This record gives sequence, C-alpha cells and structure tokens, in this order.
Amino acid sequence: MSAEVEKGKPMPENRGTPILPFLIAAGVGAWGVSRLIREARLRQNQEYFHGKVVIITGASRGIGKALALAFAKRGAHVVLAARSVGALDQVASACDERGAASTLVLPTDISDLEARRALIQKTMDHYHQIDILVNNAGIVQGGPVNEVGYESMAKQIEINLLALMHLTQLALPHMLERGRGHIVNVASLAGHWSEANFSAYAASKRGVIGFAMGLRHELLDSGIHVMTLNPSETDTDQITNYREAIDSMGIEVHPPEAVAEKALAGIVLRQPEVNVGGLLEKATVLAGAFPRLAALAWRVMEPSNWDEFTRQQRTE
Ligand SMILES: NC(=O)c1ccc[n+]([C@@H]2O[C@H](COP(=O)([O-])OP(=O)(O)OC[C@H]3O[C@@H](n4cnc5c(N)ncnc54)[C@H](OP(=O)(O)O)[C@@H]3O)[C@@H](O)[C@H]2O)c1
Repeated sequence: MSAEVEKGKPMPENRGTPILPFLIAAGVGAWGVSRLIREARLRQNQEYFHGKVVIITGASRGIGKALALAFAKRGAHVVLAARSVGALDQVASACDERGAASTLVLPTDISDLEARRALIQKTMDHYHQIDILVNNAGIVQGGPVNEVGYESMAKQIEINLLALMHLTQLALPHMLERGRGHIVNVASLAGHWSEANFSAYAASKRGVIGFAMGLRHELLDSGIHVMTLNPSETDTDQITNYREAIDSMGIEVHPPEAVAEKALAGIVLRQPEVNVGGLLEKATVLAGAFPRLAALAWRVMEPSNWDEFTRQQRTE
C-alpha cells in the first residue's frame, strides 16, 4: 500500500475496553458486596454469644475489660481473670448491669502454672464447658535491648506468650470433646512490625501469631476456631507513658471498645486474623514487603526523645 493512500485514511477507532477503570469498578463492587455479606452475617448472628461461657484473661482493665463488657452486653457468661481483685469485682458489676448471663471472678496470676490450671478447672467445675478462651493479659517493658536485661525479656515472653500457649493447651481438651469453641489470642501489630525499643515485646507477639497460625492449621477439621487479634496503639495503660511520643508522630490511637467490637465480629465471622490499626495497618503490610523502606521510614518518624519515653514504658 502506498504512503499516499495511507495518509487519506481516517485513524482507526480504539474499540478495546479500558482496563484500568474496569478493574477499579470491579474492585469497588467486590468490596461493597463483601461488606454487605459481612453485615448480613453479623445481623443473622446477633444472638451468637448468648449463653456462651467466655474466659477473658487480663479482664481488670483496658482491652480485656472492654471485651468483657462487649460479651456481657450480648448475654454471655463471663469469667474474669487477672490479679487485681477489686478491679475485677468492679468489672463484674458492670458486666451484670450490661446484661451478662452470669459473671465469675477468678483472681489469677498467669505467671503461675498452678493458677493457670486452677482457672480452667474452676471454670469447668462451675459451667461444665468453655466456649471461648480469650488470651488477652499482657505486659510491655520498653527500652533498648542492651539495657532491658534478661529478666525483663523472659518476663514478657512468659506472660505474653508461654502463659497464652499453656492456657490454650489446658482449655483445648474441653473444646475438642464438644467439637467446638473459639480460641482468641491477643497479639499486636507489633508482631508484624515493631517500633524501636520494643524488641522483646514484639518477639513475644510475633510468637503469638506463629503459635496461632500453626494451631489453626492443626485444628482445621475440629470445629475449633483460632483467631489472632492484632490491635495497634490503643488507649490503655499500656501506652500511657509514651502517649506523648505517639501523638507527636501523628499515630492514631484507638479506643479499647472499638478493638473489642472488631474482635467479637471476627469471632462470629470466624476470621483467622483481625487487625485493628487503620492507616498503621496498611503501613504494616507495606513494611513487611519492603523492610528497608520501613527502616528508613522509622528513622524519619522517630522522635528525638524516643529512648527516654520507651524506658519509662513498663506495665509490670
Ligand atoms: N494498648 C495497646 O496499645 C496494645 C496494642 C497491641 C496489643 N495490645 C495487647 O492487648 C492486651 C491487653 O493490653 P491492654 O492494652 O489492655 O493493657 P493493660 O491496660 O495494661 O491491661 C493488661 C491486663 O493484663 C493483666 N495482667 C498483666 N499481668 C498479668 C498476670 N501476671 N496475670 C494475670 N493478668 C495479668 C492486667 O491485670 P492485673 O494487673 O490486674 O493482673 C490487665 O488486666 C495485651 O496482650 C497487650 O499486649 C495492647
């Protein structure tokens, strides 16, 4: 064909479907449908917790207290465990007011092996079943690794990880016997991405995530659901001493009640892992994929007095 003829021809029309808008529309549509299904399932299961026996460790304050109140509001039997007896009694009264089927206060130091056994045994003696075990109790001790000392590291692993594993082991036979139950392990977004000076804490929480993942696979056909709850910064005693530093970085702080509501929805929907972190949650996913970039971002974000703040951060 000659160049003259080509010149006179109109440009061919582009009849192909524009792929990007199509993909965006499909993505938004799929997200919308999944939200609708989620809401419908939650509505259908409004009575899900009614009459269920729920053990909550670390129920005397913070996220554990918020969880206890959320279960109580839905008519569960709540078993409240922690060391502070007075605070537990107050939480029990609040649970009764909210509509709990019943409350049982079991003062427990989860660093003590016998106390862990007693917690499960006394619950069984009283209710003859355990529907949900929420391993929530935890501590944090901040500071640079070369300062914190072995005992501090061991204590965080003992309370945050080993006690949780042992309590799970103790409750599991009772759930297996009935072929149902939920084990909720409270880890942290720090188990996926840690700020500086919380290395032992992050190690304990990453351990929780790993333990729960293995257990979930082990129990796939058992009827028992294993969920990991990963809060990010939440407004409790755990962050009180370095709240100023968190605020200076513009990190969002969540109310414990919001964490509890997401956890209960996760149980109903049998989700494997529930993250409560907003923007930080998205950043954590990116940080996992791009660790060098994450380290660089931390260098930019870290306040100059971070070490001082984190040294003061001890809930034990
Ligand atoms: N707040 C956050 O920003 C955040 C973020 C991610 C994950 N988390 C995790 O969420 C969970 C709850 O933390 P929180 O923020 O609610 O902290 P919190 O307000 O300090 O509460 C900690 C709870 O753990 C209990 N506890 C500590 N040591 C215990 C022991 N030896 N035996 C029994 N109970 C013990 C405490 O009760 P007693 O002192 O009465 O024993 C208290 O009820 C923890 O696992 C924490 O690591 C918190």
